[in-house]
Amino acid sequence: MRYLTAGESHGKQLTTIIEGVPALLPLTSDQINQSLLRRQKGHGRGKRMQIEKDLVDIVGGVRHGYTLGSPIALVIKNDDFKHWQDIMGEDPIEPDASLRRVVTRPRPGHADLNGAIKYGHRDMRNILERSSARETAARVAAGAVAKVLLNNLGINIVGYVNEIAGIKAEYSTDLTIEEKIAISEESPVRCLDSEAGQKMMDAIDKAKKEGDSIGGICEVCVEGMPAGIGSYVHYDRKLDARIAFAVQSINAFKGVEFGIGFEAARRNGSQVHDEITWSEESGYTRKTNNLGGFEGGMTSGMPIIVKGVMKPIPTLYKPLQSIDIDTKEPFNASIERSDSCAVPAAAVVMEHVVAFEIAKAILEQFPYDQFPKLKEAIDQYREEVRCF
Ligand SMILES: Cc1cc2nc3c(=O)[nH]c(=O)nc-3n(C[C@H](O)[C@H](O)[C@H](O)COP(=O)(O)O)c2cc1C
Repeated sequence: MRYLTAGESHGKQLTTIIEGVPALLPLTSDQINQSLLRRQKGHGRGKRMQIEKDLVDIVGGVRHGYTLGSPIALVIKNDDFKHWQDIMGEDPIEPDASLRRVVTRPRPGHADLNGAIKYGHRDMRNILERSSARETAARVAAGAVAKVLLNNLGINIVGYVNEIAGIKAEYSTDLTIEEKIAISEESPVRCLDSEAGQKMMDAIDKAKKEGDSIGGICEVCVEGMPAGIGSYVHYDRKLDARIAFAVQSINAFKGVEFGIGFEAARRNGSQVHDEITWSEESGYTRKTNNLGGFEGGMTSGMPIIVKGVMKPIPTLYKPLQSIDIDTKEPFNASIERSDSCAVPAAAVVMEHVVAFEIAKAILEQFPYDQFPKLKEAIDQYREEVRCF
């Protein structure tokens, strides 16, 4: 299973093509729209989210509510394109600066300058339109399909916010995934601790008032994964490494941890490694889950717990100094419409990119063309793992 996305932030549409989804998986556009809607919510989002109401159009690979086994093509139209068609149109135009809305002032923290140097564009709109996190809507659409597949295999996944601007959520490790889904969905910052959630909102409002931005830490939890998915035999088949890659690839993500993560460096081995137990009913389990569900690049059967660190959003209403690439004069970086904090939305993006990597690994290990056969194989594998 793999996917590609295309489309610019203020272009006509975003397009996602997913290949390798088995046939006969029940799938509707409503399921994908629910995921898109969740990405658009969250305290701290800017004007753009009020303008765009993301809705998917499934234009290939699905018929009468079931996948066909052919590539799935998804389109998300940009509602605001009517105001941008001159600026973003695909046909040649006169070299008239006002129509082009040329950007010559790179924004610190964005792809603008590096991308302009790499692709040779003097107008950095050609960079920022694609490097914008608008593209994550297309990734969420792909992940939504993966989530439907996983849910149908009894694998549940949720993303939530653990920290914003240094304010940490405190919650019980005994929360079930269903509880995590319900609580995070009710919170405007996707936080499992309502008191911390309120403080996070206050911090977002404060940052907004000051023209600043703030970052945080998202966590994704996956339950229902059988042990032994992924592999240790090659670096690029390690599932934890693939998940880390996917998470790190989300715009503004600067680090990834599994389980206790960096804290492992400060503890003795006896305080890190998860002791193995066995029971007739559950098969092999671990007494603890410090390693976040992975050993040797493969799932241990414990919940996958992965965290991602998001830096504060780089576009500030209190702009940072930059250099105009035409005049080489210092300037204050130009402001495009911007969020002051997108950590809650990023948790949804993270949930979906993790879902895709997991679904992909499952299909590599169980390469069925028909979903019911995949389900049967996974059920049988679970039983084998329990009795192993
Ligand atoms: C959901 C989401 C929304 C974002 N919204 C904005 C935004 O409104 N303004 C902004 O400057 N950056 C935003 N970002 C972050 C930038 O896209 C990102 O920092 C930039 O593309 C540079 O990439 P890098 O930070 O990974 O190096 C957002 C990121 C995510 C995940």
